[in-house]
Amino acid sequence: MDQEQERLSHLQKKFGIIGQTESVRSMLETIDQVAPTDISVLISGDSGTGKELVASALHNHSKRARKPFVIVNCGAIPAGIIESELFGHKKGSFTGANEDRKGYFQTADGGTIFLDEIGETPLETQVKLLRVLEQGEFMPVGGSKPIKVDVRIIAASNRKMADEVAKETFRMDLYYRLKAITINVPSLHERKEDISELANLFARQCALRNDIFFKGFSESAYQEMKDYNWPGNIRELKNFVESVVVLEKGAVVKSEMVRRHLFGSDHRISSSMNYNLPVPTGKDVGQAERELMLQQLYHVRRELSELRGIIEENLYRVEQSGMRMKNLDISSPSIHELGNMEDVQIINPYTVGEITASQVEKELLVKTLRRYGFNKRKTAKSLDMAERTLYRKIKEYGIKPNEN
Ligand SMILES: Nc1ncnc2c1ncn2[C@@H]1O[C@H](COP(=O)(O)OP(=O)(O)OP(=O)(O)O)[C@@H](O)[C@H]1O
Ligand SMILES: [Mg+2]
Repeated sequence: MDQEQERLSHLQKKFGIIGQTESVRSMLETIDQVAPTDISVLISGDSGTGKELVASALHNHSKRARKPFVIVNCGAIPAGIIESELFGHKKGSFTGANEDRKGYFQTADGGTIFLDEIGETPLETQVKLLRVLEQGEFMPVGGSKPIKVDVRIIAASNRKMADEVAKETFRMDLYYRLKAITINVPSLHERKEDISELANLFARQCALRNDIFFKGFSESAYQEMKDYNWPGNIRELKNFVESVVVLEKGAVVKSEMVRRHLFGSDHRISSSMNYNLPVPTGKDVGQAERELMLQQLYHVRRELSELRGIIEENLYRVEQSGMRMKNLDISSPSIHELGNMEDVQIINPYTVGEITASQVEKELLVKTLRRYGFNKRKTAKSLDMAERTLYRKIKEYGIKPNEN
């Protein structure tokens, strides 16, 4: 191994970041240089490229490594409460503020705060962020004394921040203060030579976790993966590899499987349904199967309702011709009645019951939330759903943390 290669593999191991591409090399060198300092860093890159991985590498290799690393997804916090979440509030400062509450900055004292999707913060909050960056202090909501903290700030954005500044939705002073050190995380389509190594790593990790003997990828499978554009970047590759390993039970992955799992029938149906069902992450076989089952239930229900339309149409014709079909009350939309139809024994009505799409969705949300200990960021990530959408659905379905 030549010196350069040795250096690269040292940095890869040190930070747990894989890649051979020139852009990854220079990213690793920058991380190595700035990690031990207190300088704030802006990480920019598309969704799923590894921004959070970079942020945690920076924290873990700083002198703050044993202190808190607080991750805040600014895009997921409603504008109305973001200030109190970040800076805390005093008792009585607004309706519902029944006691003093510490904000994330205080929680992160001595450590690092990672402000993900910083481009989403409201302009008023940006003023406060600038003050913390410059003076290391802030005022809690409803407070009268500024609080001093020692926090290193790492911010991330998957937007073109310069455009936000031009549109005046992001403050120029804060942008210049943040961007002094910028780490650009390349998209996966710009580093296709890294696909094989990443796919292998994810497959091996997943196999180990799930007790699967993984036999590897064929050359044509690598080629097929390189031909794909990976709009969801490394996260998409990781989810894809994990589901192939789990669902194909470790068999050699061939190009046909790659195509089937990437563009297979389920994929097409779910996108044409415009319904955000999860990509199985393959955390374990049981979970993957459960997710597939829910997906299938949804399909079944859709087919049933289409079928019902056809039956109703025929019934209308039958009625027109003066005949009646027995046991069918077309005013009721339930699957039970469809099950009672003599010639339409598609499904056992007692197994499916009167499942509605929203029940399936709610159940899926509750299960996933519970699996991640109600961590909304992880839940949204695993369901491939925007965090905002998750928050909205939690509210819509009235899901509570202790829901069973
Ligand atoms: N270079 C890499 N080597 C190994 N694993 C990686 C690499 N980059 C990303 N990953 C893995 O890919 C997944 C997505 O990465 P991460 O969550 O850091 O992306 P992100 O840019 O923060 O995404 P988002 O913008 O959606 O928040 C994680 O599981 C991460 O560990
Ligand atoms: Mg992230």
